[in-house]
Amino acid sequence: MRALSAPVLSHLDPDLVLLLDDVRERLAGVFRAPEGALALAVSGTGTSGMEALVANQVTDGTRVLAVVTGYFGARLAEICRRYGADVRTLDVEWGRAVDPDAVRAALRQGGADIVACVHAETSTGVLNPVRDLATIAHEHGALILVDAVTSLGGHPLDASAWGLDAVYSCTQKCVGAPSGLAPILWTPAAQAKRVTCRSFYLDLALIEDYWVRRKYHHTLSSTLIYALHEALVAVEEEGLEARWARHERHHAALVRGLEAMGLSLLPPPAERLWTLNAVRVPDDVDEAAVRRALLTDFNLEIGAGLGPLAGKIWRVGLMGASSTEALVTQFLGALEQVLGDLRRRG
Ligand SMILES: Cc1ncc(COP(=O)(O)O)c(C=O)c1O
Repeated sequence: MRALSAPVLSHLDPDLVLLLDDVRERLAGVFRAPEGALALAVSGTGTSGMEALVANQVTDGTRVLAVVTGYFGARLAEICRRYGADVRTLDVEWGRAVDPDAVRAALRQGGADIVACVHAETSTGVLNPVRDLATIAHEHGALILVDAVTSLGGHPLDASAWGLDAVYSCTQKCVGAPSGLAPILWTPAAQAKRVTCRSFYLDLALIEDYWVRRKYHHTLSSTLIYALHEALVAVEEEGLEARWARHERHHAALVRGLEAMGLSLLPPPAERLWTLNAVRVPDDVDEAAVRRALLTDFNLEIGAGLGPLAGKIWRVGLMGASSTEALVTQFLGALEQVLGDLRRRG
């Protein structure tokens, strides 16, 4: 909050461009970027990172195998379609992770230039095995493009060791800053297959010219950069691996508490996110009334189910600063009370 209130610098102020260099270096660290990769933050929310990588990697006829395990996988497939790609989807039941063998089989059946997949599917609470998918994609000569919006800073992710070619994320989840910037990682392997970008605003060559060579492209918000910088300093102070472990620990505590109350999670244990917990709504309560009471009486906001999971799950985020023991305890106590009250009232 203090970083956000610092005096505004112009987008080409010498102090700001030094800060941009620092942010690039810190982002490369958080992504565990391979040598020579471009790491920076696109102006806009997570979707702008998604669209920027697609717009620079996909053109008419690019063959994309889009792994769809939920709402955000479907969004990624749709954006690829809008940029002219020939998109084949591999649709997985909502609430389950993709089986790498299914991706292998799909690539054997028909090739692809790009495999696109969401690492942490926020709509279902599922973690997809993108490390295995990267190996399989490369065996078939395809690049892998990964959505790390709900995993970066919260779940292990190592672009270099795993061979991820293009990755985008957001600032408002496990990185712990306000929304408004989308960190991206674009490796030399992906850049070698860049296409002419149809979008001026999202042209990564022009954005790189600004971030690296200080050539005006658009008027970046210095305020959001201060916040992102501060958040990245906090990540470094905590330590990336300690931060992953914190997210795992508080997820486990939440699950234990929910199970003690007779509640269960949608994904099987090995496929669960630590950052977004998809909790099955019991049959005897009105799910919207529970969310309303949590928000009005306890100032705790949880998400509703999306698409086919509407009314069936609650989505409980434990991301960045919200992944704490105190909040887990507070949430469990509040939920117990709200469920009890609603059941008593019938
Ligand atoms: C997995 C995933 N991808 C993409 C997005 C889109 O990000 P934004 O809403 O910041 O544009 C979200 C948002 O929650 C998400 O969870």
